[in-house]
Amino acid sequence: MIKVSDVIVIGAGAAGMMAAIAAGKRGRRVTVLDHAKAPGEKIRISGGGRCNFTNLDAGPKNYYSSNPHFCKSALARYTPHDFLKLVEAHGIAWHEKTLGQLFCDGSAKEIVAMLLGEMAAAGVTLQTGVEIAGVEKAGERYRVATSEGVLEAPALVIATGGKSIPKMGATGLAYRIAENFGLRLTETRPALVPFTLEPGLLSELSELAGLSCEVEVRCGKTMFREAMLFTHRGLSGPAILQISAVWREGDAIRIRMEPDVDVLGALKAAKSANGRQSLSTALAAILPARLAKYIADKHGAPGHLADLSDKVLTRVADAVSDWTIKPAGTEGYRTAEVTLGGIDTRDLDSKTMEAKPAQGLYFIGECVDVTGWLGGYNFQWAWASGHAAGGAV
Ligand code: FDA
Repeated sequence: MIKVSDVIVIGAGAAGMMAAIAAGKRGRRVTVLDHAKAPGEKIRISGGGRCNFTNLDAGPKNYYSSNPHFCKSALARYTPHDFLKLVEAHGIAWHEKTLGQLFCDGSAKEIVAMLLGEMAAAGVTLQTGVEIAGVEKAGERYRVATSEGVLEAPALVIATGGKSIPKMGATGLAYRIAENFGLRLTETRPALVPFTLEPGLLSELSELAGLSCEVEVRCGKTMFREAMLFTHRGLSGPAILQISAVWREGDAIRIRMEPDVDVLGALKAAKSANGRQSLSTALAAILPARLAKYIADKHGAPGHLADLSDKVLTRVADAVSDWTIKPAGTEGYRTAEVTLGGIDTRDLDSKTMEAKPAQGLYFIGECVDVTGWLGGYNFQWAWASGHAAGGAV
């Protein structure tokens, strides 16, 4: 027996649940399907378990896309304040961590529970643990064959996310459906992802694993200022995840550690104030002690600060303020927070997310070629694009 509804949503993640809520509130009979056992798994683990659910500053400038204008309409019609109103209506305590990033005080699970509550109130049917066997057009309706039977609806919303973290159920299904219905794809690559380093540099830096410091990191003309973390595999931390979205194989990145400090000036001042101290002691006033020692050993010279020439001090200051390296690669989709690229926005309506070549078919969230910076921007895109589609189906 074929089950018929008004709207089928595939993917019970951030975007799919939001679309279902918006459509359900408009009186549509909505069925949401997901192959995972539980909905909203990425929300649950996001933001270190506290979900950085939006960013107060979110606007088109914070997104990468082949068409930077595409995201404008949806973002303008469902803003960070709209989502915040929902969060507050559910009594979820939140705080602004930094740079407009809003987090739950308690747990990301509260956001999942809020969305499930809204879906139930809007009369949405949710089926988890359902395998999708095929999607086709049958007359005026979309027919979705699943492990639990066949469903049909005149509107089908694809919200299955990107390729990041296959272990959590990412499948790339959205791209296959898009291609089958005549939509184009842009190149996809892992983004918001740590860098790996070539073995020599990695072993040299191994003693620094676990250390972090404030940096300005540059790749080409793009710069981010946030924390950087040395890891056992390479480099991570918010600054590195941010720059990974613009980095391409072979590119160098330039790192300025402790960007507020005039390092050469500080070393010269330390030399004249107390020339008997070592270089690593002087550097430790600026950087974590282990990092200070590594740089002093690699770029300095033995002896007291008083024995070091301005040329040596300049070399050391440059190692802190203009460290240039070529990452070997990234950790890939295994740990990437998002997928850059995806469904070509030329084939979607920016107001509704409907596919231009296939009336009644919608694509939302991470599968679309719209990728946010780190810091709550990706969820805001999921909410906004989901809301746009849910208002149109
Ligand atoms: P999402 O991936 O959330 O949902 C897709 C759904 O489709 C899943 O439920 C999946 O099971 C289902 N699905 C996939 N394939 C299927 C198939 N073949 N059949 C049926 N169902 C299928 N962003 C942010 O703004 N703030 C943050 O704090 C974080 N933190 C964060 C941490 C980590 C570790 C990761 C990996 C990512 C983040 N992100 C983030 C990014 C954010 O999680 C991401 O942008 C959104 O979850 C995208 O929402 P979607 O609904 O598009 O996809």
